Amino acid sequence: MSYKRTEISPEEIKKQLNICADIRAGFEGQSRLALVETFGCQQNEEDSEKIRGYLCEMGFEMTEDEFSADLIVINTCAVREHAEMRVFGNLGALTHTKKDKPQQIIAVCGCMVQQEHITEKIKKSFRQVDLVFGPDELWRFPELIKTVMSERKRVFAPGSGDGCISEGVPHLRSDKVKAWLSIMNGCNNFCTYCIVPYTRFRERSRRPEDILDEAKKLVADGYKEITLLGQNVNSYGRDLDCGASFAQLIRQVNDIEGDFVIRFMTSHPKDANEELFAAMRDCEKCEKHLHLPLQSGSDRILKAMNRHYNAEKYLALVDKVREYVPDVVLTTDIIVGFPGETDEDFEETMRVVEKVRYDAMFTFIYSKRVGTPAAEMPDPFTREEKQIHFDRLIETQNRISEEKHREYIGKTVRVLLDGKDREDGILTARTIGGRLVRTAGDESAIGSFVNVKINDCNTWALRGDIV
Ligand code: 5AD
Ligand code: SF4
Repeated sequence: MSYKRTEISPEEIKKQLNICADIRAGFEGQSRLALVETFGCQQNEEDSEKIRGYLCEMGFEMTEDEFSADLIVINTCAVREHAEMRVFGNLGALTHTKKDKPQQIIAVCGCMVQQEHITEKIKKSFRQVDLVFGPDELWRFPELIKTVMSERKRVFAPGSGDGCISEGVPHLRSDKVKAWLSIMNGCNNFCTYCIVPYTRFRERSRRPEDILDEAKKLVADGYKEITLLGQNVNSYGRDLDCGASFAQLIRQVNDIEGDFVIRFMTSHPKDANEELFAAMRDCEKCEKHLHLPLQSGSDRILKAMNRHYNAEKYLALVDKVREYVPDVVLTTDIIVGFPGETDEDFEETMRVVEKVRYDAMFTFIYSKRVGTPAAEMPDPFTREEKQIHFDRLIETQNRISEEKHREYIGKTVRVLLDGKDREDGILTARTIGGRLVRTAGDESAIGSFVNVKINDCNTWALRGDIV
């Protein structure tokens, strides 16, 4: 696989920051409001923090109200049709806000707009949208906004496929305790169902020294949890010339002084290896959690998905990580109803699920994505047939999750208090394995590590008292 990386120079980013300053000066001290709405994964959340960072430099303040916003950015996800339909619904509703406020600027970005048929649809049917830009064009968001503002024309800037990498784009982080840290972007795997390689292009890694600088700043700013993000973190560094690996990176972040935890996602089973498991075992700050997407337990379907492993190899990997980290928390993603998946294929998935006994699972019904190889495969089974499998899988996993949660009762676990339930005021926390814990406590304790004795649980969460 050839790697292509286009590094955006620091001068270019400086130019963008100067444009921000120009826009700010143009507001002449008047306040302006911006709303950024995010769909999809953590990678998108992190991108939105950069968009907000730029907006802040331009002098915008953030709002949640679409009617008072002078600028609205919708950061979209293309991974399943459901998310796309929600975006179109939201965009439709924005005709009203723009009628109320004709000067309002509406921008749409993210993975969805990297697909030609979507951009065409927005061009023709959503005239209220002023700006469209792909994930790879985010670094020049200020210049794009400036063109919209000064020329009052619609701007369409989907990415070119170069696979950019940039340093120095400011962040406005949405949390004070937990931070996303993107270590790479793009994907080289071309699973046949997945749109991501077409929307985020080829894998490119940030340099270790840039990642470590960012991690050190986060720790110095008081962040207690750093999540290293990449579509496939286990191939981190393969496009760099310094021999960096993901396991080494975890060790280096672990060496930063301070009381914080390191989380990471996502690991592809074909690339997760003992070097990673050893780092998880050795690094006291590294979470004991591995998200290892299975997608299917049927060798035939795994082959059609282009996943490069079979059920046996996957199970051997699970045994291996449990050898290194005996109490590792395992979670997974499973797609139900991939084209041609039969009852027998599904039973194979159930077999793996019962064998592994995941702590938690994200389940999806296959969603056809235009332009991917799976979209061309015969898909004879109905939605209703797929739903029966889907419901059975969820039922099984709920039982296993609850059984696994029960094993915590009576135990005392160290957790990071990370927030408060808006409805009942109960504090929320995560164990080192990433399990959700709910406990009564004072809000001022959010951001600290405490010990909680677990006394109750359900499928989703553990409950306990701070000791
Ligand atoms: N349909 C359904 N689920 C999908 N995923 C990715 N592409 C699709 C698709 N076309 C799921 C995979 C992946 C997770 C992020 O989303 O399980 O791991
Ligand atoms: Fe959505 Fe996937 Fe893109 Fe994330 S990488 S924004 S989940 S399509």
